[in-house]
Amino acid sequence: MTPEQIAAIAQQGVNSIEQATDEKGLRDLEIQLLGKKGQITGLTRAISEAPPQERGVFGRAVNDAKKTVTQAIESRREALQDSALQAELTDFDFDVTLPGISKSSGTRHPLTLVQEQVEEIFVGMGFYVLDYPEVEDDFHNFEALNIPKDHPARDMQDTFWLKDGHLLRTHTSPGQIRAMGEYAPPFRAIFPGKVFRYEAVDASHEHTFHQIEGLMIDRKVSVANLISSMKVMLSQIFGREVLVRLRPGYFPFVEPGFELDMNCLLCSGDGCRVCSQSGWVEFLGCGLVHPKVLKAGGLDPEQWQGWAFGVGWSRLVMMRYGIDDIRYLLGGDIRFLKQFG
Ligand code: PHE
Repeated sequence: MTPEQIAAIAQQGVNSIEQATDEKGLRDLEIQLLGKKGQITGLTRAISEAPPQERGVFGRAVNDAKKTVTQAIESRREALQDSALQAELTDFDFDVTLPGISKSSGTRHPLTLVQEQVEEIFVGMGFYVLDYPEVEDDFHNFEALNIPKDHPARDMQDTFWLKDGHLLRTHTSPGQIRAMGEYAPPFRAIFPGKVFRYEAVDASHEHTFHQIEGLMIDRKVSVANLISSMKVMLSQIFGREVLVRLRPGYFPFVEPGFELDMNCLLCSGDGCRVCSQSGWVEFLGCGLVHPKVLKAGGLDPEQWQGWAFGVGWSRLVMMRYGIDDIRYLLGGDIRFLKQFG
């Protein structure tokens, strides 16, 4: 066989490729020419059988043939696909003005929106954002927070116990102990999270709700600094000054301890079901970290001080968006969720 004969075989192939009228026919031709037992493939195999001095010329001719045929197939395929598309587009049944299928896009949960705001505020003040387990042990949830086994404060928080002695954390405060064990002082951190209490569910109580804990450890910290941080947080979230009142409050893990109430924004203080008709919502506990708690966290209370707060994140969301029933938050009702950007 001569190189001219090989070129002629390729040319023949190209001729029939150009006459293929559909993709199926083209595919058959492709197999016939380039398939395992194809004509051109057969020539490739024959290269090795040619006399050594002719192999170079022969090989080049075969490669050229292969290239020519492959290109012809590709361009024919494109042309066939093009004309198929053209045919489809000119078909009278195809109405390009019909509206498409629209995809509904999700929205962020109001809890997430407020979380992002709180994180931005505190990150701006040098706080870390940390995440701690929802399943806790007695030590972190109670013992290390100065709530011993027989302490009446345990009654304040009805606990979901697990069979193995663990529990669902009743507040985000166990994170204080974990953070003190993890970070070298001085440091500041917030830890947003889900908490659980065995409660009768109503418009303002859920068995599963959200808190954001804050902790600042330094050589010297002050109540004044704690209160001003709380005010910064509230005024930024609500975009204005809000009416708050500070009361002495008892939490075994802080001394002194405070409770911060906010004027109920749902009824402007007139009384509604969210504020239990009082006009005030209790939504933040705070104080200076008790020396026993610092010790349990591995810090020397002679050297280090701290302040901590735990804010009712769910309530914050309700006040921020005027939601009058906490059960909406985890209710999963799309109609409710769709209202938030
Ligand atoms: N853990 C307390 C609660 O759940 C709130 C709190 C946190 C109080 C930190 C003081 C300091 O009510």
